[in-house]
Amino acid sequence: MYETNPKKLQEAYYATAYQLGGHGKRNVQVLKQAFEEMDGQLDSDQYGAGELIENFQDKIAAFLGKESAVFFPSGTMAQQIALRIWCDQRGLKKVAYHPLSHLEIHEEDGLKELHGIQPILLANRDRLIRLDDVQNMPEEVACLLLELPQREIGGQLPAFSELEEISAYCRQRGIKLHLDGARLFEILPFYQKTAAEICQLFDSVYVSFYKGIGGIAGAILAGEKAFTETSKVWKRRHGGDLISLYPYFLSANYYFDLRRDKFAQYYAEARELANYYQQCPGVTTRPAVPVSNMFHVHIRLPKATLEPVLLSVYEQTGIGFTHYLREVDETNCYFEVSIGDNYARIPKEAIKTAFELLAEKLGEVVS
Ligand SMILES: Cc1ncc(COP(=O)(O)O)c(C=O)c1O
Repeated sequence: MYETNPKKLQEAYYATAYQLGGHGKRNVQVLKQAFEEMDGQLDSDQYGAGELIENFQDKIAAFLGKESAVFFPSGTMAQQIALRIWCDQRGLKKVAYHPLSHLEIHEEDGLKELHGIQPILLANRDRLIRLDDVQNMPEEVACLLLELPQREIGGQLPAFSELEEISAYCRQRGIKLHLDGARLFEILPFYQKTAAEICQLFDSVYVSFYKGIGGIAGAILAGEKAFTETSKVWKRRHGGDLISLYPYFLSANYYFDLRRDKFAQYYAEARELANYYQQCPGVTTRPAVPVSNMFHVHIRLPKATLEPVLLSVYEQTGIGFTHYLREVDETNCYFEVSIGDNYARIPKEAIKTAFELLAEKLGEVVS
């Protein structure tokens, strides 16, 4: 029986000549590249203030069509604070979000432990929140958080018209609507909307600068001025006012300018790649047709059967598909794909050959 070895798969992936996903390895060069041409005489920001950080915040606020924006070291900090502000304003410590929200499964219950806020989970783990989930909410909440796209189910999206309906309903009921827009740039080509057109449906918005944008770390929280001013107080309370945040927001700014117009390309490439996967025996993608640069690849095989198949395809073709496999159950596993700059660097013929070999090898083991 083959013993899985996650380290071996990861090493083999990074040893390939080309990797299908991402922008490249997260190494120190990412920071060096951003600062290569930077003027060393620029004054650093200090404790969240200064021209440099304020210029960046103003630029992103304008991009999102919001009055004001604040830079945070992490989305985790920014979003817990956003929900806290809306709960305090309403005098009700309840919010609603998806059961697979980042806040629910990746933040060690920060919202509950630090803020005493109780989440009401809407929809179920397999699908998006719908208008009727919001209309039939079992309890009153101060805020509803929507994540676009819903990452843990492959990056799915509701129709824009449904978003408009949810937004209108929340406004009628006095429920604040917050956007977890960790991957907002990534969904603009699908909706064929500007960021501002999407964000105007929401009272507060968070965006990330290290996912599709590919920066080092960091987040922007945006909304009306009164909201962002309160968020600055909470940022100070959380220790988020590092004396200097410029390594983060200057690199965020650099990669934002570099990649802001590339998301339509990533989206088209994701659809092309999903199509290649679907030609392979036992493989499906979620969603079937990607709506952003990301999707999940589900394989009807145990991890221990798939891993040696991938290792041999990596070795024979020099193409890396994934650096990890996650088990769904004893007979199924999956991994996530996010398209970045890497995909366009690969000769088309090499991709085709790699998938032919993958399909052939899967055909031998998939029943
Ligand atoms: C959907 C979503 N929300 C929030 C976050 C939190 O971002 P950060 O890592 O900056 O805390 C992430 C990070 O992966 C995310 O995927």
